[in-house]
Amino acid sequence: MKYDFDELIDRRQTGSIKWSGSPNELPMWVADMDFKAAPAIIEALRQRIDHGVFGYTEPDEDWFNAYHDYYLDVHNWKIDKGSLIFATGVVPIISSSVRKLTAVGDNVVVMPPVYNIFYNSIVNNARKPLEVPLLLQNGVYEMDWEGLEKAFSLPETKLLILCNPHNPVGRIWSKEELARLAKLAKEHDVIVLSDEIHGEITTLEKPYVPFYISCEEAKEIGYAAISPTKCFNLAGIQTAAMVIDNAEIRAKVDRQINTDEVAEPNVFAVPATIAAFRDSRDWLNQMRRYVFDNRAYAERFIEEKIKDLKAIRGEATYLLWVDCSSISSDSRPLLKFLRESVELRLSDGEEYGTGGQGFFRMNLACPRSRLQDGLERLAKGIELFKKQ
Ligand SMILES: Cc1ncc(COP(=O)(O)O)c(C=O)c1O
Repeated sequence: MKYDFDELIDRRQTGSIKWSGSPNELPMWVADMDFKAAPAIIEALRQRIDHGVFGYTEPDEDWFNAYHDYYLDVHNWKIDKGSLIFATGVVPIISSSVRKLTAVGDNVVVMPPVYNIFYNSIVNNARKPLEVPLLLQNGVYEMDWEGLEKAFSLPETKLLILCNPHNPVGRIWSKEELARLAKLAKEHDVIVLSDEIHGEITTLEKPYVPFYISCEEAKEIGYAAISPTKCFNLAGIQTAAMVIDNAEIRAKVDRQINTDEVAEPNVFAVPATIAAFRDSRDWLNQMRRYVFDNRAYAERFIEEKIKDLKAIRGEATYLLWVDCSSISSDSRPLLKFLRESVELRLSDGEEYGTGGQGFFRMNLACPRSRLQDGLERLAKGIELFKKQ
């Protein structure tokens, strides 16, 4: 079956955060997609609604099998079902982990520019984000190994939140990089939480590498947060899982997600996840092709028509990371101007920590005609900004 990703769906008046702006604003910021979910997911939810009884619910055998079979088939990662635990979201997993695995005042390492909410989970719990910024070398972001070693050596450093693959820069970390990171973390007794929510949004030719399959040490000192919400566009359903082989870490984090009341699914979370991972793989693969065609289109457009900008060549996520520093080393006034003049809303690179200044992030998960509109607005807005 061929799915229609060109369909323009009006998301206004649905409570969408992304589409909450003025009537002509084109939102290319929040990381959700403007595509309808896969038919199998919609059907599973319809059946659940038609049942008509919405009492308390828990993950069933099919939920465990859906994750297990998907990751085994697609990534050759054999998840131990005893290590697989439901949670209402990846951010709840991160926040609960910070609370349980570190103490007030401890350092939690992040590698900016990185998903801004990592900082909230750390700072809101009175821990310190310890930044080890990625190094941009010849257009490619790399981990700073010396910086990581230094950060891990500090006695107050207890946890690293890894973004694998990396939002917003779009890097897929290689097996070698992940193994090196796991070994370094183990040497210094630092736990690694690998956020793999963007894992499925890559080209079919180059899948991401789950942290767990990089080496034995990864299973000893690390764990992963996985979810169907980003790749199947189910963020509003709030469903995720963690895989924790280390029994001590598992017991602690499991306890904390219960204390924080983020351990129980709503009635839609389980059927949506099963229908996604088990029954919607063809939709997922077509979406990946469409989104990566969008990425190629946007990269080409910027290269040919907006010479002041430089798109970073991303291998993962539907988010394009763009260097606008030649126009404005501070991205804030530029982004404000684009929103006001051509009604294009993008995410300000500044939000993603050190190294994000002078960049913006553009969400490409939309019908091609909408992407074209966004790029035309961007080109026009940049010209107007320069003329000011
Ligand atoms: C890296 C990363 N982690 C987590 C999330 C959000 O996860 P959840 O909605 O499951 O809390 C996002 C959303 O954009 C993200 O980019």
